Amino acid sequence: MTFSHRSLLDVDTLSRGDVDTIFKSADAFFEVSRRPIRKVPTLRGKTVINLFYEASTRTRTSFEIAGKRMSADVINMNVSASSVKKGETLYDTVKTLEAMHPDIVIVRHSASGAPSFLDKNLRCGVINAGDGMHAHPTQALLDAFTIRKKRGSLDGLKVAICGDVAHSRVARSNVRLLNLFGAEVRVVAPRTLIPRGFEEMGVTIYDDVEKGIADVDVLMILRIQRERLRGALLPSLREYSRTFGINERRLALASDDVIVMHPGPMNRGVEIEPAVADGAQSAVLDQVEAGVAIRMALLYLLTGEITELKETS
Ligand code: CP
Repeated sequence: MTFSHRSLLDVDTLSRGDVDTIFKSADAFFEVSRRPIRKVPTLRGKTVINLFYEASTRTRTSFEIAGKRMSADVINMNVSASSVKKGETLYDTVKTLEAMHPDIVIVRHSASGAPSFLDKNLRCGVINAGDGMHAHPTQALLDAFTIRKKRGSLDGLKVAICGDVAHSRVARSNVRLLNLFGAEVRVVAPRTLIPRGFEEMGVTIYDDVEKGIADVDVLMILRIQRERLRGALLPSLREYSRTFGINERRLALASDDVIVMHPGPMNRGVEIEPAVADGAQSAVLDQVEAGVAIRMALLYLLTGEITELKETS
């Protein structure tokens, strides 16, 4: 098995073969999480630092669990209780952490490009856990892994990404990865929530939700990012819910065995009705479970490469 990456900044650096390698590893690690004793020695002696400048439940916890299940030492930096609060820069923070010899730093930051900046300034690997509105590669990988587990393949599937595309790093990484796997991608949102030029990413745009989700195999619903909405992009959340929210009536327009996905956290009653979030088609918790397996695979593959580099240098 070959995997020649040190860091993961977005999915566009991955070939189809790379993603297949990640999925094969994730298949094996998925089983580890279902054992009575959920611990393997794979990363014994490795140090993983979680550096999250923005809030997270799923990504941060699953990276921590992934590292611990593989016996790595996992350090969760509490940014709000760190010297960042005294004005320490991102550069000085990461150079300080580097001096403690981590094998990998996982970073979430509000600034697009922060993980790339770290990658240029650190000797160890970096994983992008979400940067601004730019990319969220591990989310896209776990989403594709979830679909593959349920359908066997992504090739030719009709996938609708519905919601606040304008502010969504998840949408950008997912479009890139779904295109790589030959899915037909639709983007469904009010025009005000679709970035200019998004068609150039190889998607079809719909501003009518009922046309956009008709006959789709996968419906990815995105959170309305209230904290990032500026100006009059939406008349109101109630209006969004009325015109674009996914309820049982609208879901019936999709294919009979449609997979409903949401990266979380969900605004129940806004972009998704509880009956859909908790319904038989929902894969929301499957996505969370897949997230641990994908992050175990990435820690395994990325730290393995670093070990080789160190041994040969
Ligand atoms: N999907 C996702 O990134 O969730 P968190 O913000 O909880 O990590």
